[in-house]
Parts: sequence; structure tokens; C-alpha cells
Amino acid sequence: CPKSSILLAAQRRRLDAALAPFLLAPDTLREVRDKMRAELEYGLKREAQGKATVKMLPTYVCGTPDGTEKGKFLALDLGGTNFRVLLVKIKSGRKRSVQMYNKIFAIPLEIMQGTGEELFDHIVQCIAEFLEYMGIKGACLPLGFTFSFPCRQASIDKGTLVGWTKGFKATDCEGEDVVDMLREAIRRRNEFDLDIVAVVNDTVGTMMTCGYEDPNCEIGLIAGTGSNVCYMEDMKNIEIVEGNEGKMCINTEWGAFGDNGCIDHIRTKYDREVDEGSLNPGKQRYEKMTSGMYLGEIVRQILIDLTKQGLLFRGHISESLRKRGIFETKFLSQIESDRLALLQVRRILQQLGLDSTCEDSIIVKEVCGVVSRRAARLCGAGLAAIVEKKRENRGVEHLQITVGVDGTLYKLHPHFSTVLRETVKELAPQCDVTFLLSEDGSGKGAALITAVAKRLHNIDKYLYAMRLSDETLLDVMARFRREMKNGLSRDFNPTAAVKMLPTFVRSIPDGSEKGDFIALDLGGSYFRILRVKVSHEKKQTVQMESEIYNTPEDIMHGSGTRLFDHVAECLGDFMEKQQIKDKKLPVGFTFSFPCRQTKLDEGILITWTKRFKASGVEGADVVKLLNKAIKKRGDYDADIMAVVNDTVGTMMTCGFDDQRCEVGLIIGTGTNACYMEEMRHIDLVEGDEGRMCINTEWGAFGDDGSLEDIRTEFDREIDRGSLNPGKQLFEKMVSGLYMGELVRLILVKMAKEGLLFEGRITPELLTKGKFETKHVSAIEKSKEGLNKAKEILTRLGVEPSHEDCIAVQHVCTIVSFRSANLVASTLGAILNQLRDNKGVGRLRTTVGVDGSLYKMHPQYARRLHKTTRRLVPDSEVRFLLSESGSGKGAAMVTAVAYRRTSSSWLHLFLPLQADQSGCCKFLSVF
Ligand code: BG6
Ligand code: BG6
Ligand code: GLC
Ligand code: GLC
Repeated sequence: CPKSSILLAAQRRRLDAALAPFLLAPDTLREVRDKMRAELEYGLKREAQGKATVKMLPTYVCGTPDGTEKGKFLALDLGGTNFRVLLVKIKSGRKRSVQMYNKIFAIPLEIMQGTGEELFDHIVQCIAEFLEYMGIKGACLPLGFTFSFPCRQASIDKGTLVGWTKGFKATDCEGEDVVDMLREAIRRRNEFDLDIVAVVNDTVGTMMTCGYEDPNCEIGLIAGTGSNVCYMEDMKNIEIVEGNEGKMCINTEWGAFGDNGCIDHIRTKYDREVDEGSLNPGKQRYEKMTSGMYLGEIVRQILIDLTKQGLLFRGHISESLRKRGIFETKFLSQIESDRLALLQVRRILQQLGLDSTCEDSIIVKEVCGVVSRRAARLCGAGLAAIVEKKRENRGVEHLQITVGVDGTLYKLHPHFSTVLRETVKELAPQCDVTFLLSEDGSGKGAALITAVAKRLHNIDKYLYAMRLSDETLLDVMARFRREMKNGLSRDFNPTAAVKMLPTFVRSIPDGSEKGDFIALDLGGSYFRILRVKVSHEKKQTVQMESEIYNTPEDIMHGSGTRLFDHVAECLGDFMEKQQIKDKKLPVGFTFSFPCRQTKLDEGILITWTKRFKASGVEGADVVKLLNKAIKKRGDYDADIMAVVNDTVGTMMTCGFDDQRCEVGLIIGTGTNACYMEEMRHIDLVEGDEGRMCINTEWGAFGDDGSLEDIRTEFDREIDRGSLNPGKQLFEKMVSGLYMGELVRLILVKMAKEGLLFEGRITPELLTKGKFETKHVSAIEKSKEGLNKAKEILTRLGVEPSHEDCIAVQHVCTIVSFRSANLVASTLGAILNQLRDNKGVGRLRTTVGVDGSLYKMHPQYARRLHKTTRRLVPDSEVRFLLSESGSGKGAAMVTAVAYRRTSSSWLHLFLPLQADQSGCCKFLSVF
């Protein structure tokens, strides 16, 4: 080509006019950045689900690599230019390394666009060849599947294809789980088996690949056949995923940015033509302006237009130019190379079947340059939105961050990466962004994710029996409903495991209670004595003062006399401190154990539960025992008016604030619930009118063998080591006294099997009670949880790796989740009973709740609420936390009992009418 080849002025003008819309002004780019930012924010919202164009898909990848990953994995990499099958060997420790073997396989067009079954059969055929080639056909290796299309995930090993993008269009796949499809295809072939552990997007794989080298890498970018980005988002910003702590990787699927028309004003007529001719018209509009699969197509459309205008190829549109897809990214990259002389450009065009002049080649080169520059600028504007978001999330003025990048456009194009970087700098000046090229593709990252997921998968399999399906939970709910019925019936009550004890409390507080009371609260984590003053000027108000007293183990396990002497002594001390030793205040006694009652101020202990085992109390009336101990002292007097279970106290405490409260629930040291039952269903108490509170004592559910199918070896071991073997079997699967120990037993067994701590077991780990329920709560805090795990396990003498900590956290989650699920089932049975009693279609009620496990565990309450609502969908349940313990409720019960006895002489003199109107308040209570 002669150097003097220049375009005529007229040609220049027309060319400039055609290309002008591709030159984006800085303001336009800033607008793109801001619109992208708005779409990112919107996609994270709950209300955006199914509506957002930028889908912001949670990936269930919650951390970047930390170097402790290890093992041998298979990886598939489908959706980019090449389909690859890989074997990845990861070593951890000081000699950490990753070795990879891979093979590229072709996916013919007719398979990309055939049926889903054909596509997955082909993939499995390629895997078979690879396994054969590597000589590992017999090994059932864990597999990480990089699937570079938008998938909605509910866990790391499930991904429902939202819609095909790029060059794929196989039928019957959209809306299906791609992991299931792959599993099915493996089953159809029936030659080998694989353990599919994770499905990841290529952006995520890339971020992880780069994250292995640079821990600051929290963004993954693909500028290849398609265009997409992922980044680590704060959990608290991801509305559709449970939990607020820590981070999760979000696959933005930004390729779809603009599908709602928000960037239509910058789309050119060529973009529209490319879109119309694509496999997915109207979709992936941003991707179609920025990625390798479409840039060549845009160039071709422009060239056709310029040819029509007589500016190119002598006005002749050749057959080659009509061919869709002739301009692949690699040609675009070659044409734009600065080192290439125009003559060489002509040669490339010739290869493509385009016979060009020198002027033609100048124009083609310029067109390519304009199109790819716009792509890089747009991509930069999008990335600026992401890094700015990261900066704001971290709350820093300046952000240093690494972006892991892959894709042929980024790698092969001579200018794309430079323009991209400049644009990000220009549009996000407060961010210092390092671009780290992924040398090993996304397969390595997928294997790293698989390594972590596999460990958790192993635990899941190991603790399979602890994961209860909704079907099982509904079955447990039905069983408990039968138990309730048995317990209430006169014939079956004597043999029923769930005792359904009448409490002689007939209503929640009605606002008229008043007086000065003492409440004793024995049986939970603390022994507490309270003074409760309920006054009644204008508004009912409650004033409380309390003292906690120690109850040493030798007293809990000694003689009953000693125990009640201790209670009486503490009460004396309290009265002394309150300076009321000379008064005879009415006392309400919260005694949190199963008691048979025939009246309010009597409680015959059926059996000790939880930590207590004092002799000579079972079968005796605890009111009498306490009175005796007080009399023996002789230094003060007390009038025990009511004995109530803690569930009842809790229901009454919450009933004080919410009149709808008709269930009391304890999830603490022990677990139990009470609720308001119709008198006509309570055979053991005379009368059919009104309601009475029933203390279910559900902790004993299963004592007759009815839960054997869901109890595990660990539950049996807990029971064997307890104070009351064979009893309170449900409680032992659920409550705080046992949960930590349950986790400890599991950890010991897992360590023995080499699944944890590299098989090391320490004397501390073997010591009963060393792992407490409060530790479970600490470990499940997702932000500090892993650090806590490290701290707690280190105190137990093991040197846990990061992976060990993740595994232990997972064990805790499984055990505490099971507990919440089981409580949801039994509570569900009570709710159904209430609904049926009321004869309403939809139940509206309040459950008063107390107990350290419910209060202290970071996720428990939310899980319980969620499962309950799922199991009993036709209900509107409010869970009301009892802020002031059961003492306040016990005082409420005592208030009414006191008023009744102190005014009982009045009954004799009042005419019937006056009795009904004057005394109906408290009579309706008891
Ligand atoms: C590869 C990754 O290196 O890059 C793939 O391993 C990814 O997972 C691909 O899809 C993206 O680039 P391209 O250009 O092949 O689409
Ligand atoms: C307290 C109540 O708040 O919770 C007690 O006042 C009850 O009556 C206790 O027994 C239950 O929780 P925990 O965790 O102390 O057993
Ligand atoms: C397409 C896909 C996306 C992928 C990207 C890069 O945009 O929808 O999942 O990450 O291409 O391959
Ligand atoms: C135990 C007791 C029960 C109490 C519960 C919660 O299950 O038997 O009476 O309500 O613990 O403290």
C-alpha cells in the first residue's frame, strides 16, 4: 500500500458520520456507570426478584481461597470459546501448589443448538474420553462445573439455568437444574460415576483462580465471547439470602444491562441489527455491545452499510461479507494490531474472502478500532460502578482492589485492556485497581471452590440423618398432634409420653392485676428471686427487682430437704435485702419441671429433668416442701399462692403486652411449651366451659419410642450419659443443655475418622461438657464465627486449619438447624390444634418465647420462625420475646390468686348478681 493512501474529504465525512455514535463522551460514560450502579443495587433487592435486568445472582461462594484447600478434583469448563475437561491436583501447606491437566473438546454447533439431552450426553462423552485418557475411569472424583451462563442457585451444588446466552440454545434446559441434567446424563451412560459438588459461573471461577495468587482479588471479570462480572458483596446487602454476616460472591450477569431499554439511546442501528440477527433478540444488550462474540458482527454490519454507501469494496457486497460470524475476535485483534502494515490487513481481509483496496483496509481498521474502543469504554464504565460499590461497602476513601480477568477479548486484543483500565481510572478515581490476568482459566478456581464444598458435602453425608426434610417434619408434627390428643384423654393419659398437664391458669392477664409480690424462678440457667410490684394508677405498671442465686451442683444432686433449705435461705436473704422480712408477701413459684396440679398452689413433681436430681422430691408437692423449709427457719413467713411452669410464666409475661398470646415456649436449658386449650378437650379437669393452659411437657416426646427413626447414634450417646436415661428424648435433641455436647460427640467421631483436625484428638476434646452450647452460638456468627471457632478449638488443644473451622461451623449449623426444625414441628402441631379449636381457616396468634438458646443463638429464632411459617402456612404467628423472664408472669398469676383468697369471705355476703359482676374479672382468670 502506498503510504499516501488517504481518504477523500467526502469519504471522510460519511465515514465519520457513520462512526460518530460510537464515540462516547465522558458524560455519557458517567451516565452509563451511574445507571449500572442503580441496576446493581436494584438487583440485590427482594422485590426485584424475577424483574431485575441485572440479575445479581447469589453464588453461595462465601470466601476467597486461603491456601488450605487440597485434594484431587475434576473440573468442566463450558461456555467460553473452548469446552475443557480438567484434572486439578491441589496441595496445601508450605509446598502449596496446583497441578492441572486438561483437554479441549469441540462442541459442534448442532449440539449447542440441539436438545438438552444431546448436549449433556456429549459433555459426558467428552468426560469419558478424558477419564480414559488420564487412566482414572474408576475414581469417583469430586467435580466442579464451570457453567458460564446465568443460573439461579439455592446452594453451591444446584443451578437452574435462567436462559441461554451467547451461542448456546439447546432445548429443554432453561428452568432446569444443570447439575441434575449432568447427573442424569452420567446415569444414562452408566460407565462411571462422579460426585458433582459445585456449579460456578466463569466469572466466579476466574475470581477464585486469581484469588489464589492475590487475596485482594474480590472481583472476577470476563471479557471474552461473553461479558460478565462477579464480586464479593456484603451479606447484609443481599436481601434474598438468609444471614447478615460475612460476604457472598454475586454473579451480576451484567450482560443483560439495558434489556429494559435504559441504554437504548446509545445503541446504534448496527447494534440493533446485530441483536435482531442473534439467538436471543432483545436480550443481553450490554453484552452485545461489549463482548467478543458480537464485536465482529457489529463491524460487519457497519461494513455492509459503508459498502452500500459506496465507501467500501467498490460498492459490492460479497458473499463473504454476508456471512454471519466471519469476523471473529481474533481477526479483529489482528487487524487492530499497531504493528500490522496495511498490506497485512489486506491479506487478513483476503483470508476472510474480502477483496480490498488500500483505502478499504484503512477504513476497516478504523471501524474495528472504533467498535472495540467503545466496548472497552463501556466495560470500563460498568467496572467503575462495581469498584465504587466495593469502596462504599468498605467505607473507605480510597480502595485498593484486584480484579481477576479472563477472556479472549481482554487477552488477545491489542488495546482493549489498556482502554478498559484508563476508563476505570477516569470514572472511579478513588479506586486503585490492579488487573490480574487469569493464566490458568477458571477450572483452577472451580476446583478450589470444590475443595471447600466437598468437605462440607462430606459432613452433610455424614450427618445426613440430622437433616430433616419438610416431609419428615410434617410427619413429626402429625405424630406430636396424636401425642397431644393422648395426653389430654383420660384413658390414654396414664401411659402417654407427653403429659399435657393442666395448670389451672385459665386466661392471660387482663390488666386488672395489682400488688406487691415475690417470684421465685427455679429450673432454668439461673435461680432468680424477684420482687414484682404491679401498680394500677391510670395505667398498669410493673416494677421489678431481682437477685440471682447460685445453686451448686451438689445441692441440685443432693437431698430434696437440702435443696429446699437452700431455696428458703436464698429467699430469706432476698427479703432481708429488700427489708420485707416482717411482711408476708404472696409468692409465685416458677418451678420449671413437670408437676401434676389439682389446684394452683400445688405441684407434685412427676420427675426431675435437665440438671436436677435431688432425692425425695419426685412424687411430693413442692409447695409443701418449700413451706416446710421456710417454717423450719422461722425468721420470716411467706404465702406461696401459685406454682407455675416457666412456659406458663412466659406466656403470662408476654400476655401482659399482647392479648393475643396463647402459647408459651421455652428453648433454653430445656425445652417445653404450654398453650390455651379448650376445657371440653381436657378430660382430667371437670367442666367444659372456657379454656385452661396446658403445660405439654413436650420434652418427653419420644420417650415411648415414637422418635426412634429420627434419633441418631449421637442422640443415643447423649441420652446414655445423661442424668435421666430414656427420658426427655425430644428435649435431648433440641435444648441448650445438650446441644454443645451433641456437637462435641460428633466432632470426636469425625476426628477419629480423620475427617477433622487431621485425625488428632485431645483430652480436652474428649471431656464431657467442654464444648458448650454458647460455643455453638459463637461459632455460628457468620462474621466472627470462624475466628471464634479457631479460638474455641484451640482452647480444646486442637490446632484447627481454616478448613477445620469451616467444617466445625457446618456441624454446628446442622445440629442447631435440626433443633429449630424440630421445635417448628411440635409448635406447628399446637398451632394447628389452636386453629381447629377456633374453627378458623387462618390462625392469628402470638407465641411468647424465652430461653437462652433462642435468645443467644444468632440464627435460631429466624430459622424457627421461617420453618414454622412453612409448616403451618395458613397462620399468622407473632413470636414475642419475653424480655423480663417468667417472674413477671408468675406474679400476674399470683396477683389473681391472691385477690381471690383475700376477698373470698366477700363471696358469702354478696348477692349472686354482685358476685357475677364484681368478681367476674378474677373468676374469669381462674
Ligand atoms: C477461560 C475460562 O479462560 O475464559 C472460561 O476458563 C471462560 O471459564 C473463558 O468462560 C472466557 O473467555 P472466552 O473468550 O473463552 O469466552
Ligand atoms: C428465663 C425464665 O428467662 O428463661 C425462666 O425466667 C426460664 O423461668 C428460663 O426457665 C429458660 O431459659 P434458660 O436458658 O435459662 O433455661
Ligand atoms: C454470558 C453469560 C455469563 C458469562 C459470560 C462470560 O454473559 O451469561 O454467565 O459469565 O457470558 O462467559
Ligand atoms: C424441662 C422441664 C419443663 C420446662 C422446660 C424448660 O423440659 O421438664 O418443665 O418447662 O425444661 O425449662
